[in-house]
Amino acid sequence: MTTRLAPSILASDFSRLGEEVRRCKLAGADWLHLDLMDNQFVPNLSFGPPVVAAIRRHTTLLLDAHLMVIEPERLLPAVVEAGADRVTVHAEVCPHLHRVLHQIRDAGARPGVALNPSTPLSVVENVIGDLDLLLVMTVNPGFGGQSFIHSMLPKIAAARRMLDAAGSTAELEVDGGIDPETAPPAVAAGATVLVAGTSVFGHPNGLEAGLTALRGSVQ
Ligand code: DX5
Ligand code: ZN
Repeated sequence: MTTRLAPSILASDFSRLGEEVRRCKLAGADWLHLDLMDNQFVPNLSFGPPVVAAIRRHTTLLLDAHLMVIEPERLLPAVVEAGADRVTVHAEVCPHLHRVLHQIRDAGARPGVALNPSTPLSVVENVIGDLDLLLVMTVNPGFGGQSFIHSMLPKIAAARRMLDAAGSTAELEVDGGIDPETAPPAVAAGATVLVAGTSVFGHPNGLEAGLTALRGSVQ
């Protein structure tokens, strides 16, 4: 299966966002990963629906919104309206996870669930049929540039087995500290989508070289 690469624009130069987004497409990105943070669920604050809409105007790439916010059901209609194709919420903030996943689908986007490193896979066991993407966080969410937590590899493998056993075709995404060294074991464990911020945008030879290096590591 081809592995999809989803650069996280959190690591891009926000003062030149349109250009960065266009360069991602030219450099062969498959998706764009958008990290929305609320300074509540995570300590950091990033951007909201107006920025998603601005990005939408600059690209045809699939927009993969990762909502690191409390009460995501309040924000998600605006995120879909702004042009997100996929919306992923954190299980930790959704007591009514089944309802939220259906809200996303009814709004016209494809639903996903993200799990913090300490959150067990069992929280999605009963909604596997309702999600199109499972995001196993490989860092604690909130910031780019953190180190990949290697003890998440068995969790990725267990998520792969859980999806396969359920006959699910949902994407298995990993996010945090993904670079040409950590991507191969993540893909070997069963990940299908690699989110990468720092290793792509922070590559010394530019994001084109960053994406090429990441792609090369998993081919
Ligand atoms: C972290 C975000 C990530 C972040 C990844 O909370 O969810 O998407 O941008 O950045 P790197 O690749 O630098 O770990
Ligand atoms: Zn993310």
